[in-house]
Amino acid sequence: MKAHDNASSLQLEQFDKHAAQYFHFRMNSQTANDFIEIPQTLKMLGDLKGLSVLDAGCAFGYYSKYCAMHGAIVTAVDISRTQIDLCREYCREFADRIEFKVGDVASDEVVLEENSFDLVLSNISVHFSLDAFFRNCAKSLKKGGKLVYSQIHPTFSACNMSNGLNFEDYFRTDSRTQQTENIFGNQVVSDKYFWSWNHYTTEDVAIALRTNGFFISGIYEPKPVPNAPNQFKIFNRIPLFLFFEAVLA
Ligand SMILES: C[S@@+](CC[C@H](N)C(=O)[O-])C[C@H]1O[C@@H](n2cnc3c(N)ncnc32)[C@H](O)[C@@H]1O
Repeated sequence: MKAHDNASSLQLEQFDKHAAQYFHFRMNSQTANDFIEIPQTLKMLGDLKGLSVLDAGCAFGYYSKYCAMHGAIVTAVDISRTQIDLCREYCREFADRIEFKVGDVASDEVVLEENSFDLVLSNISVHFSLDAFFRNCAKSLKKGGKLVYSQIHPTFSACNMSNGLNFEDYFRTDSRTQQTENIFGNQVVSDKYFWSWNHYTTEDVAIALRTNGFFISGIYEPKPVPNAPNQFKIFNRIPLFLFFEAVLA
């Protein structure tokens, strides 16, 4: 499950380069996040009052702000400095409840305090080095603490999307890179976007969680909410997101 160095640095470059466009896209378009991902994540976050929360791969801080607004003390970490600058701006009303950090949550270089979080949220953020990331989560969570982890569903991450949706080898666990303008039918960026990720099967994720001391308390494959626009109806038949809830045993 080792990440491919070139692909992971290409991914960082893309997240950094397209940070402002991604923010604009999320704020001004109807996205799969609105109709599938956010309703599921909010159910899983539950009551946040008084909790210490790590938002791992926070981007512009959608959930950092939400968690702080609902009573949590938040550490918002992203590998991209541009994303953290946006996050600081987007979350400015709650700056007294949020610590902002630039760093790689899947490497040993990020210094996260050990045994200090009640909840780690990693929402569609870590696309490489999953094993190392879960090891860091286990170190930084308090015993009994909860991890809410989501990713693009392996059914999708096994596909080549540069020209329609072409299913490739699901069981080949490796890093993949594609060049596309559209992600899931949405124009995310105006120029070509290189999408890079390491493909993990559902079983890979479960094994990595268990190996790092987690008890899996829930697995979810959410469908669009009933009032979702037509463009998202396809995700009633094909899962777009995969969620795990895990507790540090
Ligand atoms: C698709 S965005 C997800 C944003 C956010 N979690 C949300 O739900 O709105 C992915 C973000 O994860 C960040 N990221 C990816 N790998 C990371 C890593 N290893 N450490 C820290 N941040 C990472 C990217 O820079 C990007 O901002």
